[in-house]
Amino acid sequence: MILRACPADAAAMAAIHAQVFAAGAEAAAWGRPWGEDSFAIQLGLPGALGFIDSSGGMLLARVLGPEAELLTIAVIPEARRRGLGAALLSLAMSEAASAGAERIVLEVGTTNEAAFALYKKAGFALVGLRRAYYADRSDALLLAARLLRQA
Ligand SMILES: CC(C)(COP(=O)(O)OP(=O)(O)OC[C@H]1O[C@@H](n2cnc3c(N)ncnc32)[C@H](O)[C@@H]1OP(=O)(O)O)[C@@H](O)C(=O)NCCC(=O)NCCS
Repeated sequence: MILRACPADAAAMAAIHAQVFAAGAEAAAWGRPWGEDSFAIQLGLPGALGFIDSSGGMLLARVLGPEAELLTIAVIPEARRRGLGAALLSLAMSEAASAGAERIVLEVGTTNEAAFALYKKAGFALVGLRRAYYADRSDALLLAARLLRQA
């Protein structure tokens, strides 16, 4: 079950992040996973939007007036391709819309085919390129989607 995260969930979110970003291409891009402190700080900021699922998924976003930003999404390898990433993203998009955001943006690595496919299916479109965005100086695609306020 996906639950709304608060600063007290920082350790659990960091544990999922570590499992996903400690090895492989994602780790190479980011340098190292975000620690508990990073999550505690970000979850305490105005507009923070965090979600966590005990089967091993998490998402962190932020709503800033009419724009929301997806900061990170991660599902542990054992829990992938069961719809959890899509469910986390859909919940974040509807909560961001309810909070007044009209658009959501995110960056994704140019070689991250799984995440790109997830975002495309959720309605994101390519709006720009950020060169040398990641720690290893690889590029990111800037994607955006319109958010529809619930009636
Ligand atoms: C991207 C990520 C969050 C997807 O999580 P997930 O729970 O496996 O995603 P879902 O099962 O909800 O997949 C939803 C759709 O996304 C697409 N998708 C997801 N993984 C995919 C893959 N490996 N290859 C191709 N398409 C993929 C598919 O269209 C999928 O729908 P389908 O299963 O009906 O075909 C997960 O792979 C992950 O944590 N990756 C590492 C971290 C990361 O890259 N985060 C994003 C940084 S920008």
